[in-house]
Amino acid sequence: MNIRNESLGSLSSHQQTTNGFAGLANNVNFQFTAYTENIIRVQFSKDEQFDENPFSVTLKPQQPAVKLEENEQELLLTTSAVKLVVQKHPMRLKFIDSNNELLNEDDAAFGVSWLGHKVTNYKTLGADEIFLGLGEKGGGLNRRGSSFDNWNSDAFGFGNDTDPLYVSTPFYIGVREGRPYGIFFDNTHKTHFNFGASNNDRFSSFSADAGDMNYYFIQGDTVAEVIQHYAKLTGTIQMPPKWSLGYQQCRFSYYPEHEIHNVARTFRDKKIPADVIYLDIHYMKDYMAFTFDDERFSDPKALIAKLEEQGYKVVIILDPGIATKQGYSTYDSGVEQDIFVKYPDGTKYEASVWPGNSHFTDFTSKKGRDWWADELKFYTDLGLEGFWNDMNEPACWGQDVPDLVEFDYEGQQVSHLKARNVYGFQMVRATYEGARKQIGNKRPFALTRAGFCGVQRYSAVWTGDNVAGDDHMLLGVRLVNSLGMTGIPVGGYDVGGFVGECSPQLFSRWLAVAAFAPFFRVHSMVNSRDSEPWAYGEEVEEISRNYINLRYKLMPYLYSTFYTAHKTGLPINRSLAVAYYNDRNIYGGNAQNAFTLGDWLLICPTVSTQEYAEIYLPKGKWYNFFTDEVFEGGKHHIVHTSMEDLPVFAKAGAIVPMQNVIQNTQQAHDGELKLHVYAGEENTEQVLYEDDGSTFDFEKGQFNERLIQQNGAEKTLIIGASQGEFNTTFRSVKIYLHGFNATEFSINGASADIQRENIRLIDPITEFDPLPQRAKKDYLIHSIATLSTELTNSEIKITWK
Ligand code: GLC
Repeated sequence: MNIRNESLGSLSSHQQTTNGFAGLANNVNFQFTAYTENIIRVQFSKDEQFDENPFSVTLKPQQPAVKLEENEQELLLTTSAVKLVVQKHPMRLKFIDSNNELLNEDDAAFGVSWLGHKVTNYKTLGADEIFLGLGEKGGGLNRRGSSFDNWNSDAFGFGNDTDPLYVSTPFYIGVREGRPYGIFFDNTHKTHFNFGASNNDRFSSFSADAGDMNYYFIQGDTVAEVIQHYAKLTGTIQMPPKWSLGYQQCRFSYYPEHEIHNVARTFRDKKIPADVIYLDIHYMKDYMAFTFDDERFSDPKALIAKLEEQGYKVVIILDPGIATKQGYSTYDSGVEQDIFVKYPDGTKYEASVWPGNSHFTDFTSKKGRDWWADELKFYTDLGLEGFWNDMNEPACWGQDVPDLVEFDYEGQQVSHLKARNVYGFQMVRATYEGARKQIGNKRPFALTRAGFCGVQRYSAVWTGDNVAGDDHMLLGVRLVNSLGMTGIPVGGYDVGGFVGECSPQLFSRWLAVAAFAPFFRVHSMVNSRDSEPWAYGEEVEEISRNYINLRYKLMPYLYSTFYTAHKTGLPINRSLAVAYYNDRNIYGGNAQNAFTLGDWLLICPTVSTQEYAEIYLPKGKWYNFFTDEVFEGGKHHIVHTSMEDLPVFAKAGAIVPMQNVIQNTQQAHDGELKLHVYAGEENTEQVLYEDDGSTFDFEKGQFNERLIQQNGAEKTLIIGASQGEFNTTFRSVKIYLHGFNATEFSINGASADIQRENIRLIDPITEFDPLPQRAKKDYLIHSIATLSTELTNSEIKITWK
């Protein structure tokens, strides 16, 4: 058989629907539906029934006001924000914004095409069009000129060019002549995205091996808006348990139990804050899920309780493969309940993974997920609330699950070709839902390696088996930044590198960068050197303590930024492309790795092997976070960046709520909110959000949310009255006024005295070496003006002259 490209023909019949149009173009069914003012869904199918992915999109069409028009040549679907123009002969689509500016259009010749079962949408490529996101993908920040596949893969020791990796998220953001849009191609088969690679800019395209052309076109005035509209479609994160924002220590594997106690005690003895210790696969009996090895762990419940007393949570690993051993109760129950994945002839699929021969739970069926949720009781009864789902691409030895293997896929009964990419997503969903079911009102934590669009509703994602190297550190940062632009705000990487061994310099730099990451965990492979913060010598220990301390001081800001992600879908670590996408300088050099934590702190990761690095600061004024030195933005700077010295900046206008250092998030702070405010001319605002950090009571009003606003022109800083029924945990606020020249201040109308203080946000590193290798910075911020006052739930207004 000779398969050739076949493009969509002319419109043959159509009708208007409530929110759009439906009809036939030759033998292809089409449907265009306005979901919201900003989102139009496009569907083409060769089947009578349109394909559905029941897992990713949670939003129902919102019935926005639409105008439907038609003439000889065109169908027009218009909302307040976007217009879809459908050319009838042949059928080609074009999206324009409310100013009649082109956002995106089909390639005139090829439009939507089929090549056998493979369906592709070819789009014209704007001369300056930029492509962002697509989730966990290596390569540059601007994806122009590259192509990518989505097929969840166990990518041990991956590099910058390895594609695909573990997570598939067929959603990207384009920026054409400065105007952003997004395309979420909702097809779970293997998909392929081409942003002008190997076609000399003839087109950009996206394809799926099978299934429908089914995408959501998203208009947003800014990249941040596109991300938020996408989050409306596929959902946002749950509020995490606060302990999951703390420092987490992992290795493959800590055992037996006295080793865990040693690690736990050493953090406390050395006063290095930490919240979580992980148990990797050696905790299990012969690597079998839902067991504990009773020689290594005589009493897991007591161990977990003891660690809890010391302010630690334990997270255990859990893989999808269930060992095929009769008498192993999980296996027997799985067979009895008939929840394993099968071949089309009804025999159970078997492959080898850590526990040996295994069957695989079908998480794409409710029955499978419910069974898993019940099995999880084994762990929750021991007091566990954190679960790490691994090997869920699914991975097995040989890495080639046969394509004919079948999955339930919510009753659709599909092959591996359609189910693979959502398998890990549904596993961690089952885990999260199971944990919720078992631990009552407490917030569980879940972490996954594989995922698909929507996985953020259940889990954090870590980027798998990276390698100890500077390029990997920077790659990890880019992956997390890209996941953030793709609706998955809680991401992280194995600090120190999973494979290989880190130098002291690299470990210090990596840990410092990760102190600003949403998910902050050190992890390393079996048979590798120790990789705790004290394992690399005195200097690294101090540097690590410094940055881990800083993370805990930043907890009010960090937690509020998670809350914003929960509410809006905005990333926690934001690539410069989120706020500065039209600045071409961000797409080259170190700027590609830079990110902001929330709105205000800019982190510029640089390699550990250089004492000086070139960084780029976007337009505006920036304060070095550790020295208050002012830098002019809109240009490159050469900065000193020795082992202990990560370039971090606060933007003019920044409002950064902080607290004192605590040793773990379950410990109370000292009651003083330390509000660092940086003078700026623009109006700026920051949410401060508090709740109990551990339950879902905030959904019933038990939260405390307030807006802090700075107005540089009017010279006011307002700490708004709080909303919600939860009392603030702070009793007072001390405002640190960075870069303010004023001398007269008033609080709520009464004149207020400023106090001057010398402060440090990080500490200088002790000179351990009798023959110093380099000069070290002092980090003292001299004589900064502060104002202190009581903090209640009421408004505080500060003015200055
Ligand atoms: C996989 C995971 C890694 C884990 C190991 C053993 O390689 O990616 O993080 O330590 O399996 O469970």
